[in-house]
Amino acid sequence: MLLLLFQLLPVLFPGGDSEDAFQGPTSYHVIQISSFANSTWARNQGSGWLDDLQIHGWDSDPGTIIPLKPWSKGNFSDEEFDELEEVYRVYYFGFTEEIQQRASEFQMEYPIEIQGIAGCELRSGGSIGSFLRGALGGLDFLSAENDTCVPAPQGGRRAQQFCKIIMQYQGVIDSVKKLLLETCPRYLLGVLDAGKGELQRQVKPEAWLSSGPSPGPGRLLLVCHVSGFYPKPVRVRWMRGEQEQPGTQHSDLLPNADWTWYLRATLDVAAGEAAGLSCRVKHSSLGGQDIILHWGHPISIGLIFWAIIMPSLILLLCLALWYKRRW
Ligand SMILES: *[C@@H]1O[C@H](CO)[C@@H](O)[C@H](O)[C@H]1NC(C)=O
Repeated sequence: MLLLLFQLLPVLFPGGDSEDAFQGPTSYHVIQISSFANSTWARNQGSGWLDDLQIHGWDSDPGTIIPLKPWSKGNFSDEEFDELEEVYRVYYFGFTEEIQQRASEFQMEYPIEIQGIAGCELRSGGSIGSFLRGALGGLDFLSAENDTCVPAPQGGRRAQQFCKIIMQYQGVIDSVKKLLLETCPRYLLGVLDAGKGELQRQVKPEAWLSSGPSPGPGRLLLVCHVSGFYPKPVRVRWMRGEQEQPGTQHSDLLPNADWTWYLRATLDVAAGEAAGLSCRVKHSSLGGQDIILHWGHPISIGLIFWAIIMPSLILLLCLALWYKRRW
C-alpha cells in the first residue's frame, strides 16, 4: 500500500521538485517611480513586467507606452491599447499635479519619492489574484484590499488621512478596480500565450571555473560560473564525488541583457583539498544531463607558454640564425 502511495506521489504532485515545475512567468505588474525634487520639478518612470522580465517601458514626455517585445500587446487590439495609454497619461498627469498641490497639506517635504506596484498573478488552482501597493520615501504607505485602501502601519497618520480622502473618489476606486480585476487578468492570459515561444523556451547554460581572491593563507576560493540559461530555476553545487559540499555559497541570480541568467557558486577550501572537487549544474534545458566540471584540469597559462609559445620562439630564432648565416 505504502509502495503504491509512493508511486502515485509524482503523479498526484507533478513538479514536486522545483526544477520540474511549470516554468516561465505567472504575473504581470506595472511599476511607477515618481520623484519630486521641488515644487516645480517632477519625473515619472513607468514600466511593465512579466515576473522579472520587462516587456513595457514608458516614455513620459509624449506619454506613450514603449513595447519591448513584438508580442507585448498580448491579445489586446490597437484601440484597446491606445485607450490604456490614454488612461496612464491622464493618471500620471493628474497624479503629478495632485502631489505638487497637496504636498504641504500632507506635510511632505521635498525631495519626495513615491513608488507603486500594481498587477495580477496566476495562483495555484487557476485563479488570478490582483495587488496594488504604494510606498513613500522607501517605506510601505498603503495597499489595496478588495475595494478598500488600507494604510500601512509605517505610513502613520498621513497614510490614514490619504486613504480616507481617496475613498471619497468613487470614480477613481471604480477605475482602479476595473483595471486590477478585469483588464489585468485578461491581459495576463493573453500576453502569456502571445509570448509563450519566448517565455517557455529552454536555453542551456555555459559553465566555467576560476579561482577567486584567496580567503586566507593556504586557502583557495573555487568559483563556478554558470551563465546564459533560461528559465531561472537552476541548481549549482560543489561536489566531491556524489557528496555535496555543505559550504557552497551562491551569488544572487543576475540578469544578462538577453533575458538569460547568471549565477556563481563559490567554495572556500584548504589548498590541498581542492583536487577531486567538481561543480555540478542541473537545469531543465539539460534534460537530466548535468554539466560536471572538475577542478584541477584547466589548461594553465604556463602550459600554453611551454607548449606553444616557447617552441615558436625557438623556431623563429633558428630561422633568424639560418638567414644570417646565408647572407
Ligand atoms: C528644482 O529641481 C531641479 C532638479 O533638481 C533643479 O534643476 C531646479 O533648479 C529646482 N528648482 C527650484 C525652483 O528650486
